[in-house]
Amino acid sequence: MNTEASNRVLLVLYSYHHRNTEKIAQVISDVLDAQIVAPGNVGPGELSAYDLIGFGSGIYSANHHESVLNLAQRLPLVKGKRAFIFSTSAIITTSKVASDHAALRDILTSKGYVIVDEFGCKGFNTNSFLKVFGGMNKGRPNAEDLNNARAFAVNLKQKAGDS
Ligand SMILES: Cc1cc2nc3c(=O)[nH]c(=O)nc-3n(C[C@H](O)[C@H](O)[C@H](O)COP(=O)(O)O)c2cc1C
Repeated sequence: MNTEASNRVLLVLYSYHHRNTEKIAQVISDVLDAQIVAPGNVGPGELSAYDLIGFGSGIYSANHHESVLNLAQRLPLVKGKRAFIFSTSAIITTSKVASDHAALRDILTSKGYVIVDEFGCKGFNTNSFLKVFGGMNKGRPNAEDLNNARAFAVNLKQKAGDS
C-alpha cells in the first residue's frame, strides 16, 4: 500500500463474468501499489483521498458495468483529478475500445476528471449461446495481455512522476 499522500492510487473494479478484468486490475495494482475496491463498496466522497483513480470492468452491452457508471454519476465535481479507464471485452479494436469506454469517459470528464490513458484487452466470453461452443477468447487475458497491462501501468507511473 502506497502511503505517500501525494500519489495514492485507487482502482474501482467490477469483474464478475470470468474475473477477466480483475486479472488486469491485479497487475496494474501491483505496479501502482493501488487499492482495489468494488463500486458498491466505496462512497463517491471517498475518492477525494486519491490522486489517481482507475475505473474498470468487463464490457457488457457495449458499456462498462452499470455499477461503475452509477458511481461515476454520483461523483462530486473535481478540478483536473487524474483518472484512467480499463476494460476487458469479447471483441477488441482500437475504435471499439474507444466507443465502449465513451459513456464512462464522458461522465468522468463532465465531472472534471482528466483521462490520462485507457486500456482494453480481450477477455474469455461465454455469454449467451457462446457457452454451447466453449466460449470465445479462451485463456484471455493471457500472459501477453498481462504484460501489456503491466507496461500500461508503468507508463502511467512515469506520467505521474513527470507531473
Ligand atoms: C452479459 C454480457 C454482455 C456482454 N456484452 C459484450 C459486449 O457488448 N461487447 C463485447 O465485446 N463483449 C461483451 N461481453 C464479453 C465481456 O466483456 C468479457 O467476457 C469480459 O472479459 C468480462 O469481464 P469480467 O470477467 O471482468 O466480468 C459480454 C459479456 C456478458 C456476460
